Amino acid sequence: MTMSNTAAIILAAGMGTRMESALPKVMHPVAGRPMVLHVLETAAALSPEKTIVVAGPDMDELATLVATHDLTPDVALQTERLGTGHAVMAARDALGDFDGTVMVLYGDTPLIEAETLVALRDARTEAGADVAVLGFRPLDPGAYGRLITDEAGELIEIVEARDATEDQLLVDLCNSGVMAIDGAKLGGLLDGLTNDNAKGEYYLTDIIALARANGGRCMVVEGDEEEFLGVNSRAELADAEDLMQNRLRRVALAGGATLIDPATVYFFWDTTLGRDVTVGPNVVFGPGVTVADNVQIKAFSHLEGASVAAGAIIGPFARLRPGATIGEDAQIGNFVEIKNATIAAGAKANHLSYIGDATVGAKANIGAGTITCNYDGYTKSLTEIGAGAFIGSNTALVAPVKVGDGAVTGAGSVITKDVEADALAVTRSEQKAAAGWATKQRDRKARD
Ligand code: UD1
Ligand code: MG
Repeated sequence: MTMSNTAAIILAAGMGTRMESALPKVMHPVAGRPMVLHVLETAAALSPEKTIVVAGPDMDELATLVATHDLTPDVALQTERLGTGHAVMAARDALGDFDGTVMVLYGDTPLIEAETLVALRDARTEAGADVAVLGFRPLDPGAYGRLITDEAGELIEIVEARDATEDQLLVDLCNSGVMAIDGAKLGGLLDGLTNDNAKGEYYLTDIIALARANGGRCMVVEGDEEEFLGVNSRAELADAEDLMQNRLRRVALAGGATLIDPATVYFFWDTTLGRDVTVGPNVVFGPGVTVADNVQIKAFSHLEGASVAAGAIIGPFARLRPGATIGEDAQIGNFVEIKNATIAAGAKANHLSYIGDATVGAKANIGAGTITCNYDGYTKSLTEIGAGAFIGSNTALVAPVKVGDGAVTGAGSVITKDVEADALAVTRSEQKAAAGWATKQRDRKARD
């Protein structure tokens, strides 16, 4: 049998009443990615032959969402939410006569790591156990199911907290929800489930006692509490976010980035940082940011959908919005917003600007307060600024408009027509001066 003889079932049909949300629980994001996609991504490490997501009724959005993942899972419908065991029953048709290892994962447990899943699968096959369960010892066992073992450490049963005796509640070894099950036995075990318990549900966890009663063996593989947080409320969602952010911070540090105050830097699940990148305090990464080597991102910057080439300096207080492409050694300074714009190598926009729907040539200098007027209330238009151009402070560039290579615009100009290369464009009213006016004014005021 090859190790890839695996099917993954992800339970995602619960609405998550305690979330107090119109959105299915497993669609709530952690580090910007819906929890169920984190779980699918991790499951991909098992190279499953079949992947099945169990969804509830009225969860079309969930089906659409999971279809975007590379594993292209089957979606099985659990028409009534009658418990985790019932949810696995709903996957039976999609599973067919699969007899390898069936991995059951919960869509609300987004922090599980790939190596842990692989270790669980392999432990079950090596031991020839019917079921292997991932257990953990949380600081507060709370509402988790308790794993009851014998002296030899074999798993005898799982007892839900609601159904547990006082003695059983003292057990600190808890059920993460993740199981590896012998596919050849699964059908028979599911047939034996009943709903005779505190919640009146078909608990998947009951398959342990059933397997034992049939003479089978069950085992526990212990893992780290951090990986098994199950999200049932907004407070637990915040805890999961915190753990995920810490993980992403450690990944960034391990990859050769300096985070001056890691706890204040927020990553998106897909943020990519190069080596020798320095990130100052209070920087937030939104979706789709790629940062090359030797970039400095200074305090209080916000980046999303942006790519930053080597050696660039961003911030402090810079905002890069989707489509911002920052070239090598370019500088984007304080209170500068860049959207859908390419800033070529060595160009600078250091103070108080909005550059949207634009191209800025190499080594161009964008003066303080420059605005690309890209929107007339109906359409967005392009501003093209040539290489080496010098845009004077407080220039308004009314798009569509082009400023040629090496051209200069005078401070305060409103540029509505194209400017030829190497020309000067100024659109200011002439300055007038009245000699001695100020002295006279002061004298008048002193007499009043
Ligand atoms: C479950 C386990 C508990 C374990 C805990 C770990 C059972 C009976 N209990 O409890 O032992 O310690 O997870 O986090 O399995 N779901 C469905 N259909 C249903 C019910 C649930 O698809 O009818 C899905 C949910 O969407 C969720 C997962 O199954 O992703 C777990 O359900 P949940 O209600 O959160 O179970 P817990 O009470 O947390
Ligand atoms: Mg749960």
